[in-house]
Amino acid sequence: MSRMKTLTLACAAAALAVSSMSAQARDFRLGLITPAQHLWSTEAEAFAQTLNERSGGEHSVSVFPAQQLGNEAQMVQQLQTGALDMAFLTIAEISNRIPDFGALYAPYLVDDVNHAARLLRSDAAGELLDLMPEGVGFVGVGYGMVGMRQVLSRSPIESADDLHGQRLRITPFEPIRDFYTATGAAPAPMPLLEVYDALANGQVDAIDMDFDSILILKFYEQANNLLISNHMMFPMVGVVSGRVWRELSEADRELIDTAMAEHLENVLSGFEEMDAAQEEEIRALDINIVEADAEFFSEAIAEWESIWAPKAPMLDTLRAEADRLRDE
Ligand code: BEZ
Repeated sequence: MSRMKTLTLACAAAALAVSSMSAQARDFRLGLITPAQHLWSTEAEAFAQTLNERSGGEHSVSVFPAQQLGNEAQMVQQLQTGALDMAFLTIAEISNRIPDFGALYAPYLVDDVNHAARLLRSDAAGELLDLMPEGVGFVGVGYGMVGMRQVLSRSPIESADDLHGQRLRITPFEPIRDFYTATGAAPAPMPLLEVYDALANGQVDAIDMDFDSILILKFYEQANNLLISNHMMFPMVGVVSGRVWRELSEADRELIDTAMAEHLENVLSGFEEMDAAQEEEIRALDINIVEADAEFFSEAIAEWESIWAPKAPMLDTLRAEADRLRDE
């Protein structure tokens, strides 16, 4: 056989090996912290089904809800090593690693869930996702969210002074810690699934939470005062491990990107649709409700801005976009 022909055959064999590798059937693993009945988890399952169908049964996704693979900090490490393929993560954990994401937690950046969803669909929010490959080693496919943050407490909070000294559960991340520290509360970082017991046994006096979680996880059984403050949005991001992404064919990347983005959009629109009914359901419970606005938290907001404006230069861009979208 001529040398030329041997080389051509070797190249063809190598090309075949690469193409069969890229067409390799995969069972991806997707982790998240929310319980199985939460919209993030049901949309993760629906994404698994969509990907399986669109890949003609070649790819499947095993979904691990309720922190089965560990907390978000642990899942971030697994994603970085490629031990975990995909996740739906709160931006909380990402903001601990890429401070610019802290801008999404600027108090009263948005007015309500519809405004939050519009901002998360904007190019300005998309620019943040572009920071993820270098910042944490993931591909950020798109955003989801839950509803706006409120404060549920064992004793009434009627003025900012009532927050002083309250042991107040927060999701473990810095922008929210700095906000509550500025109010004079004592923030207690704690994952979502530990909150019910912490409220029940008096480990915390109050919790930072959204309507949906208050209802699903029945936190109102343990605390019957609600400050409806809508003080922050609470975004989520759908990610793929950068290591895993690099192994995928262009066609598989496109398939995953499109299918995951569709189901993340379902999360955004799902919370937009559910929010008013959830607020109504909560208002109908036997609980004491107080309402608050930016004025209520004015001193804490000024303090938060002084810490986060220099740390998160994207804040100006996001605020300009949020202002533009306010009345759209
Ligand atoms: C929380 O930490 O409060 C939380 C996390 C994910 C979904 C909803 C709430």
